[in-house]
Amino acid sequence: MRAAVVEQYGTPVAREFDEPTAGEGQVVIAVAAAGVNPVDVARAAGTFYSGRDPLPFVAGGEGVGTLPDGRRVYFDRPVTPFGAIAERALVRSDATIELPDGLDDGLAVALGISGLAAWLPLAWRADLRPGETVLVLGATGVLGLIAVQAAKLLGAGRVVAAGRDAAALERAVAHGADATVRLDGTSGSALTDAFRDAAGGAFDVVIDPLWGAPAAAALGALGRGGRLIQIGQSAGTTAELSSAAIRGTLAEIRGHTNFLAPAGVKEAAYRTLAEHAVAGRLTVEVERVALRDVADAWARQQAGLHGRKLVLVP
Ligand SMILES: NC(=O)c1ccc[n+]([C@@H]2O[C@H](COP(=O)([O-])OP(=O)(O)OC[C@H]3O[C@@H](n4cnc5c(N)ncnc54)[C@H](OP(=O)(O)O)[C@@H]3O)[C@@H](O)[C@H]2O)c1
Repeated sequence: MRAAVVEQYGTPVAREFDEPTAGEGQVVIAVAAAGVNPVDVARAAGTFYSGRDPLPFVAGGEGVGTLPDGRRVYFDRPVTPFGAIAERALVRSDATIELPDGLDDGLAVALGISGLAAWLPLAWRADLRPGETVLVLGATGVLGLIAVQAAKLLGAGRVVAAGRDAAALERAVAHGADATVRLDGTSGSALTDAFRDAAGGAFDVVIDPLWGAPAAAALGALGRGGRLIQIGQSAGTTAELSSAAIRGTLAEIRGHTNFLAPAGVKEAAYRTLAEHAVAGRLTVEVERVALRDVADAWARQQAGLHGRKLVLVP
């Protein structure tokens, strides 16, 4: 079968790979579309924090496709060395979620790793309460643009979108953000002040896929009992945090990874996201790319797509 194969750590190549065979508790899925995520780039590069996959392996951690009985499903965590960016993927039978009618393949992929990492930090990790004020960092990325919409759908009051790209920040406003803060290299107390101005006070929740200087400044803009949910490190692997910013407001920094969310929590969240998407309340800009162009897709994902989700079609 055709697949995006990581032969050497770096960029996958489109070539033939062995067909998967289902063992006990596994199923082979005919893939219709597979996502490209920062985690896939890191795994292919051999730099993901959980360790290196033995070579060679097929890239891709999520997709949509059909089961042998014809049902359309979303799937994640394919069984290595098989991955999602291939004509067929091997997955555990309990790692599939049946898709509702009317949900486009590309959008169904976008609701997976990106959608869950936007929704779960708000609904599950932050326990967002109606009317709370939310700051979304990295709001120009796929996760961030979904988080802006998710915050509103979950009943947030004021939602502030922060990011580098001006055009993508405009899209965040179109998706419901009440105000924006441009991340133009300003840091420290000046950035904290800009966040506080946009909040009209302080934040209850910060959604943080960036870390680094933006997260450090955002901590200072949390009000009493505020929660910063740490999801990714697009702006830096380390951050210099002020003690006062944490203890002075009883602030909490809570981590989030989709990998450690219980299956039932993930599945319920995915179904809710899918309902919103089918009803038109949640949208993502999706671009389909042929599997043979996987190297180009990798380069574009690394360069940054300002909120556009790439899905590879085998
Ligand atoms: N914990 C989890 O389970 C989980 C799941 C999914 C994703 N993530 C992580 O969440 C992050 C975002 O994912 P994504 O899918 O939204 O990726 P994405 O679409 O590529 O977006 C990346 C975002 O980071 C911003 N960014 C990149 N470098 C930056 C820098 N130096 N300073 C400030 N902003 C910077 C981008 O801004 P521009 O638009 O200006 O380029 C964009 O807003 C990634 O780190 C990813 O690994 C974690």
